[in-house]
Order: sequence, then C-alpha cells, then structure tokens
Amino acid sequence: MFGYGEIRTPIFESTELFTRSVGEETDIVQKEMYTFVDKGGRSLTLRPEGTAPTIRAFIENSMINDGLPQRFYYIGPMFRYERPQAGRLRQFHQFGVELIGSAEPSADAEIVQFAKSFLDLLGLTSYKIFVNSIGCPNCRVEYKNALRQYYSQHYDEICEDCKKRFQTNILRLLDCKKDLEIAKRAPKTVDYLCDECRKHYERFKDLLVHLNIPFDEDASLVRGLDYYTRTVFEVKHDLLGAQSAVLGGGRYDGLCKELGGTDLPALGFAAGIERLILAVKSEGLQIPQVPKCDVYVAPIGEQATAKALELADLLRKRGIITVCDINARPIKMQLKHANRLNAVISVIIGEDELSKETIQVKDLVNQTQSEVELKYAVDYILDILKKR
Ligand code: HAM
Repeated sequence: MFGYGEIRTPIFESTELFTRSVGEETDIVQKEMYTFVDKGGRSLTLRPEGTAPTIRAFIENSMINDGLPQRFYYIGPMFRYERPQAGRLRQFHQFGVELIGSAEPSADAEIVQFAKSFLDLLGLTSYKIFVNSIGCPNCRVEYKNALRQYYSQHYDEICEDCKKRFQTNILRLLDCKKDLEIAKRAPKTVDYLCDECRKHYERFKDLLVHLNIPFDEDASLVRGLDYYTRTVFEVKHDLLGAQSAVLGGGRYDGLCKELGGTDLPALGFAAGIERLILAVKSEGLQIPQVPKCDVYVAPIGEQATAKALELADLLRKRGIITVCDINARPIKMQLKHANRLNAVISVIIGEDELSKETIQVKDLVNQTQSEVELKYAVDYILDILKKR
C-alpha cells in the first residue's frame, strides 16, 4: 500500500558492520551478538537487526543510482543472545521498513503512518505510540555535557556497566535497565535540541496531529542503538507485560556515510512478529489468513484432469489463486478439501461436462451451482469473485 519493495539481505554479515552501526557500547554489541569465526578467519555475526544490512546492501549495489527516495521492506529472522522469556527470543522475526533519501519531517510522518496502518490492519487497538527527538551530533555535544555533569553527581549509585559507559558512551546510560530511576531524572534530549532539530520535531508532531495519529511524547525514549538521530519512536502494547515494545524505529541520518556511502538521510522501523502474534492473541483477535485459494478445480477422471490443469492455468493468468486437485480422488473428498482451503468457488469437470464442453461452477459461499460453457468460464468466475 505504501510502495515499499522487498530487500533480502544475508542472515550473517561481517561483525564490523554491527559494531560500527549499532555501536560498540550498546547491549546488542556488548552482550547479545552471535559471533563466530569462519574457515577464512573472518569474524561474522548472525544479524541482530535489519537496518545496517539494508544500508550495506544499498551502498554495495549502488542503489542510489535508481533515484531517491527509496523504500524497502524485509521480513526475516534476527538473532540476539538475550535471556529468553515470553516475547523475548534468541531467534525472532522482524518485519521492517527503511526509507532512504529524505530529510523531510513528512518522511518521519509517513513512517509512523505506515507503522500505525500495519497495526490497525491486524486489528490491534490496545497500543500507544511514543515519540521523542534525540537531536543531531551538533546539539548532542551540549546534551552530553549536561548528562556528564548529572551522572557525575550520581556516579556512586550507578551499576558497574554504566561506570564503564560513563567514559565510553554516556548516552547509553539512559537505557540502563538497572538504573531506571536515575535515568528518569536525567536531563532531557528535547531541552537541548538545536533550532533545526527543534523545527523538524515540531513539524513531525504537527503532521501526526494532522493525520489524526495519537501519540505520547516520552522524553526518556532514546532507543538502544547508536545510529539514531532526531526522531525516535516506539509502540508499546498494553497487554504484553515486560516485553511490551512491539515496534520501534527512527531516523538515522549519519549511518549511510558511516558505512562508507554517500551522506544520505534515512529512517525506518521494525516490528517483532512474535510479539505482534502475542498482541493479536491478547486482544482476542484472529491472525489474518492470507487467502490460499479462490478457485478449487475438481476433475473427475483422467481426461477431465488434463482439462482442469488447462483451465487452472487460464485462471491463474488472470490473477486468480487456483488450486487444481491432482490426487484423482472422489469428488466428495475434493470438495471437502476446497472447503478446508476456504475456496470461494469450486469448478467441477466430469465426463458429462467434458463431452458438452461445459463446467459446473459451484459458489461455495452462496451454495449455488450453474453449468457454464467452458469458453465463458474465466469471465464468469471473475464476475463472481469481483462481487466478493
Ligand atoms: P529494535 O527496537 O531493536 O529496533 O527491534 C525492533 C522490534 O523487534 C522490537 O520492538 C521488538 O518488537 C522486536 N524484538 C527485538 N528483540 C527481540 C527479541 N529478543 N525477541 C523478540 N522480539 C524482539 C531495531 O531492530 C531497528 N533495526 C529498527 C529500525 C529500523 N530502526 C530504523 N529502521
């Protein structure tokens, strides 16, 4: 619906890709990566996320030449060595999108609009969108100074990991899971935004209001990956307990350049599919089923099977999802299978029909049946399907 094309990246990448993009001092890189050395002595890592691989592939394949902006989506397994619990797995799946080549706040609005449409399509209602701006490297200088000052006053209270991060990456102290209370009272990124970042953030929020997208501002939202700049956002589901973040994302304007490409702005989000399934179930919703079959073609006898395969081909060429029975079984069993596949129509071709060059078209929703001349079959079936 939003015009994003699929991108498939390898399951493992060079370890350096993630240390450079996600950040040396992040939990993902420090504790959660599945890293191994291959027979050639290279350090490789099972991908913990999809943004850095997408940007790497974009740069390596010179996709910039296809014009900007470009929109990608991916669905696939990700790997993080975390303590497993409900909604937190070591191999999980993400649906993610990346929009490369727009610095405009309208791109941020489109990404949140996409996230919301996706959740709405699943029928979810018990969720909240949280947004924040963490500024650009310019405004971050002053912000980091303020943080350093604040945390030096609390140095004795923070955990050992944070004492290390105090020296190496002060921003990461904000997403420490142990020192939550101290982080909560820390200086807020939004109070240190430069004029450009402030304008961007205000325009983004105005657009969300214009689009009737409800959101809450969360000044403590900084996200656990280093590549983010300006807009960050997260969606939390009310019924999921500890692992309530079903989706998260934001802008990462410096990443393309950092990975050796052109200096391009970019942004995106990723949703955890297993968490989405838990959310759908917690709201008592059905997991939406992709239609497996519009038309089930049921032949009786060898000759009819050849005709059935021919008709199935014609239907598929018109975009109709068609399953043709190839098991030579009694018609009753064939129709049972058609029902199991939720077919809208079944087509029956027996010896009688073969000799008359007709077919029986059974509307499985209205339970009506008519004999149709074979030459009009495809249009007749298309007509029924259009009315659904
Ligand atoms: P992330 O917040 O690390 O962002 O992950 C996105 C989503 O993946 C989370 O909101 C959560 O639903 C799911 N997830 C993360 N870890 C696990 C786990 N161990 N088990 C189950 N689900 C999990 C990213 O990965 C960024 N690459 C998102 C992004 C795309 N930012 C810009 N573009």
